[in-house]
Parts: sequence; C-alpha cells; structure tokens
Amino acid sequence: MRLFIMSVSLLLVLGFSCITSKVVENFSKCGDFFFHRTPPVISGILSDSVAQDNAYKIICQEYNNINRFATLYDKTKKIPVFSAYQYIRIKKYESQKKIHWKIESQLEPSSYEISVPFINQASRGDYYSNTQNLSPGHLFPVCHAADRETAESTFTLTNSVPQRNNIRNGSWKRMEQLTREIMDNYCRDQKNNNRISAYVLVGAIPGNNILNERVNIPSDMWMAFCCYNSTGSSWVSQAYWATNRDNDQGEKIILKSLNELQIFLNTWNRQVKLFYKDCLLSF
Ligand SMILES: *[C@@H]1O[C@H](CO)[C@@H](O)[C@H](O)[C@H]1NC(C)=O
Ligand SMILES: *[C@@H]1O[C@H](CO)[C@@H](O)[C@H](O)[C@H]1NC(C)=O
Ligand SMILES: *[C@@H]1O[C@H](CO)[C@@H](O)[C@H](O)[C@H]1NC(C)=O
Repeated sequence: MRLFIMSVSLLLVLGFSCITSKVVENFSKCGDFFFHRTPPVISGILSDSVAQDNAYKIICQEYNNINRFATLYDKTKKIPVFSAYQYIRIKKYESQKKIHWKIESQLEPSSYEISVPFINQASRGDYYSNTQNLSPGHLFPVCHAADRETAESTFTLTNSVPQRNNIRNGSWKRMEQLTREIMDNYCRDQKNNNRISAYVLVGAIPGNNILNERVNIPSDMWMAFCCYNSTGSSWVSQAYWATNRDNDQGEKIILKSLNELQIFLNTWNRQVKLFYKDCLLSF
C-alpha cells in the first residue's frame, strides 16, 4: 500500500514537472523580461510573440523554479537568436566557483533517454578540442546577473554561441562591463523605489561557418538596452555590435543608436523592431 502511494506521488511529481514547461508557445509566461512585455518582432522568425517557423523555440529560462530570463532558440542552427533579461543590480556578483553547464531537456525528443550529442541544441562536446579558438560565449552575461542563482542560470548552452576567445575575453567583455556601469549610473525604475532597472536584449547573427558540423558560428553579436534615464528624465536606449573575429586588438566597441542597430540587422535580411515604440516613451 505504501509503495502504491509512493508511486502515485512520484507520478504526480513527474506529471507536474511536465506541466511547468519551459519550452513554451509564446513569451507570455516570461514577458516581464521585455520592455512593456513586448518581445521583438523579427520578420520570418518572431511576430506577436509567436515563432514563425518550427525551427525557432521559445524558452522561459527557469532555474530553481523561477524564470530568470527568456531566449529565442534556433534548434536547426543550434544557437540562440537572442536572450532577453531585465538588468536589476542587487549586488555585484563575481563568480567564485566553477559553474556547471545545463541543458534544456525539453528541446530533446524524450527527456528520459537523452543521448549525446543532443539533437536540438549544442553540446559541451561540440566545443572540445576545436582549433578555431571558440568557446561558448554567453548572451546574458554573468556580470549582468542580479544574484548568484541568476548567474548560475545563465550557464545554458541555449544562452550561448560559439564566440572567438579573443573578443569574448576582450572588447565584448569590456562592453559588458561598460554597459553595466552605464545602467548602474542612469537606469532607474520610477515605479519601483527608483531601483536600477533596464531591459536588455543580446543576440547573434548566424554566419556561414559551422562548429563540429553541428553548431552555427555567428558572424556578429549585438546588444541593446532600453531604460528610463532618471538623470535626463527620459527613456533612452543604447546599442552595440561587433564581428565575431579573432584579431581583437583591445579596441572599444562603438556606441550606436537603436535605429542604427536595427538597420544593421537588415543585412541579415530581417526587418526588426527590438523594443516597444523604439523605447521612445514620453513620461
Ligand atoms: C500564449 O500561450 C498560452 C499557452 O501556453 C495561451 O494560453 C495564450 O493564449 C497564448 N497567448 C497569446 C497572446 O498567444
Ligand atoms: C582573459 O583575460 C584575463 C585578463 O583580462 C586573463 O587573466 C585570462 O587568463 C584570459 N582568459 C583567456 C581564456 O584568455
Ligand atoms: C542620461 O541623461 C544625462 C543627462 O541628460 C546624460 O548626460 C546621460 O548620458 C544619459 N544617459 C544615458 C544612458 O543615455
């Protein structure tokens, strides 16, 4: 009898974990990570928060039962299109111990018999012994995470792309640190005790080269944020992009406008609208 009850409750637990799905139909479950709860519009890929093609999967990146950020993932190219998060500085988090990489089991055909290499996402093994100086580079970076658990949650291969070590550890990293300082200095949520707050999108443009015959190596990476500037009393945005290349000489990634980034993204043959009303609200 006791065994019977145990197996019933085990089924309930398993059943429940199937219901709280992370790969979802639209971004409504994790809409808080988007400015005005409005995800980007990308022609042919994402419209009205719904993927326009079965290759693109919407992921609410849940960790320890809390949604931490959102990702649009291309399971064919095995790289994300973008990750979206709200930057809320609580305290500066510097990683101390090595964090393990996690996989998104719901992207795979059966969560009970997951085989390596994964069918619908990159594997850690795809990066082993590559001769191209590529490592998994985070879209949502550890240094923008509000706390330890959120930092841990960013270690998913669905939040990563093959990034050249040189730029990953060079100009891209410095851009992440610089934007953190800018957001700390200016971006505030007036409706929430003036706490630090910004909506951030980080994405990758697929390239023509493939890692380990499986994972697309992006040609470029981009980031943009939108926030209320409490010093200037207006909504502001900033944008950056950089080629995923190996000969980073310590240069600085140039600040661009949101509109310039959206025009640049047209080179990928996509019309894009990253933020609700281009982040031009007037209150
Ligand atoms: C989003 O998906 C949920 C099911 O996961 C559905 O109930 C809801 O109507 C959808 N919302 C939109 C705007 O499509
Ligand atoms: C990245 O750069 C830091 C110094 O800024 C250095 O200590 C570290 O070894 C570098 N890591 C890699 C993988 O090159
Ligand atoms: C915020 O506004 C101040 C004052 O106008 C300006 O100096 C600063 O550059 C603005 N910050 C951002 C991130 O736009």
